[in-house]
Amino acid sequence: MIGNDELDRLEHSVQAALRTGRAEGLGLLGAGEISLVLGLPAAHPTWACKRLPPFPSPAAANRYESAVHRYIDALTERGVEVVTTAVQRVSGPDGTTILYCIQPVLAPDAMACAIARDGGPEVRPMLEGIVDSVVATVDRRVGLDAQLSNWAVSDGRLVYFDITTPMLRDADGRPDLDSDVFVASLPWVLRPPVRRFVVPGILDRYHNVTTVLTDLTANLIKERLERWMPVLLEVANPHLGSPLTEAAVRTDYRSDARMWEILQQVRRADRLWQQRVRRRVYPYLIPERIER
Ligand SMILES: Nc1ncnc2c1ncn2[C@@H]1O[C@H](COP(=O)(O)OP(=O)(O)OP(=O)(O)O)[C@@H](O)[C@H]1O
Ligand SMILES: [Mg+2]
Repeated sequence: MIGNDELDRLEHSVQAALRTGRAEGLGLLGAGEISLVLGLPAAHPTWACKRLPPFPSPAAANRYESAVHRYIDALTERGVEVVTTAVQRVSGPDGTTILYCIQPVLAPDAMACAIARDGGPEVRPMLEGIVDSVVATVDRRVGLDAQLSNWAVSDGRLVYFDITTPMLRDADGRPDLDSDVFVASLPWVLRPPVRRFVVPGILDRYHNVTTVLTDLTANLIKERLERWMPVLLEVANPHLGSPLTEAAVRTDYRSDARMWEILQQVRRADRLWQQRVRRRVYPYLIPERIER
């Protein structure tokens, strides 16, 4: 648990970075597609602090927070070990509420990507563990983003840490999460169409074993870990009705990369517009260029 004062100071440095556009001092641990992860203390982090886009009201923040807890419980119930996560809040500008999901920092060499890059004998069992977790977890109700960049091996146990998008649906297939979290950093004109046409499609993919495993395999390309593709296909295919091929995975990767790239470009364009034309502080931290 981090003291409120300490978290307030972290939020102040984020606000300063937003005003100046300089994120160097923030101690970034990683950049995903939606949130940025800040190390605290910046120089030698013991905590990974995942900052969510500002919530318009305490009630909206409460709804998100309880969705995160329900999601962690659901994963745990299905046998996925989730890194201990606390949700803490500070007040943001204009009456907004800022939430941070806070976890202990995992060692760089514990990250699944680093382990795969290292290429030792533990890679295959790790991939088997990830595939088994997907098969045991993913269905209409519970979604999972099984990409390698979301796992680590800690004390010999596979652990999952990407819980900032709690992918849960109710019995009727309705997402148990305001899609506002996804669209908050998009220009307002785009929010309704993205919420209606893009978000459901993205979420659907995480609720189906085949697409989750396809995405896990395709992501090896982005991580420059393609050499593990044959092994991963060999481990995944016995669980699938019709086997995945490298060609299918590559096609999937290209269309997925294009969609995320377009969303990133829209955000960068909007940031430029807000800063240069409207002379406003752009209120989100968005990842800089992502190599694909
Ligand atoms: N507990 C942690 N310890 C060390 N590094 C972490 C930790 N959590 C996240 N990271 C780093 O930050 C990166 C992004 O984190 P995470 O996967 O939680 O968010 P994300 O991919 O941005 O999620 P989303 O796109 O769903 O918002 C990770 O790939 C990893 O490099
Ligand atoms: Mg992630």
